[in-house]
Amino acid sequence: MILLDGKLVSEELKKQIAVEAAELLEKTGRKPHLVAVLVGNDGGSETYVASKMRNCEKVGFKSSLIRYDNTVTEAELLNKIQELNQDKEVDGFIVQLPLPKHINPDVITEAIDYRKDVDGFHPINLGRMQRNLPCFLPATPYGIMLMLEYYGIETAGKHCVVVGRSNIVGSPMSILMARNAKPGNCTVTLTHSRTQNLKDFTLKADILIAAIGKKNFITADMVKEGAVIIDVGMNRESSETTKSGYKLFGDVDFDGVAPKSSYITPVPGGVGLMTIVSLLKNTLAAAKREIY
Ligand code: GUN
Repeated sequence: MILLDGKLVSEELKKQIAVEAAELLEKTGRKPHLVAVLVGNDGGSETYVASKMRNCEKVGFKSSLIRYDNTVTEAELLNKIQELNQDKEVDGFIVQLPLPKHINPDVITEAIDYRKDVDGFHPINLGRMQRNLPCFLPATPYGIMLMLEYYGIETAGKHCVVVGRSNIVGSPMSILMARNAKPGNCTVTLTHSRTQNLKDFTLKADILIAAIGKKNFITADMVKEGAVIIDVGMNRESSETTKSGYKLFGDVDFDGVAPKSSYITPVPGGVGLMTIVSLLKNTLAAAKREIY
């Protein structure tokens, strides 16, 4: 079993990003600038956004945080998005999800200029992704592709089973793995909450991507010997034994599954760290105006 080490890979890729950001600063006098919009104070979102901002500074980007409380209206948020779309000092921006119930995330996502949509959630970016055209890829799936690439894991002709069909992870992941690209060229099965006899599918997976948001959902009996296991789970539970006051659990029962796997991502220390690298890569591409 080989551990897919998100810490190692993300640090390496961040070094390359920092070099490119320094070159861009030298050439243009500007740092790539990422803006994050955060609504409310969901514990997970707070942590993720703080980490995004911190990592921007680490690689020599400028970052700004715009906060609203839970009572912000959709119209107010749309106004801010228009402003950010037009602001030449902003290369890319994200609106952290989830949003309060009275705000429609699809309306917000579509209002973002696709050329600044470094989350890769806009339908133009999703459509271009499906066609293998230049676009911003959604951060978590992109991070998984970078991880597979880094470790030289062969994907062509393999059976990839994705568990979970979210807009952010499962659905785009299934498209990326099926594309005629490297990594890619998988036979893909996308499973979800209505899938019957899930285990029949997961047992056939050469590459299993778990993105369901349920702690230790994938157990050893559901996994084929030698499978590549990618755990996207970010299940937070409060804990008195950690400094942060919470503990993170994956969707995969690591202790049970790891001995059967060829490669496996830990939680924490796996996919989560790669997601941030993708956001940085997208922001750099936005600053270079590579997507237009
Ligand atoms: N919430 C969970 N993951 C993400 C992400 O990648 N981007 C945004 N904007 N919100 C998220």
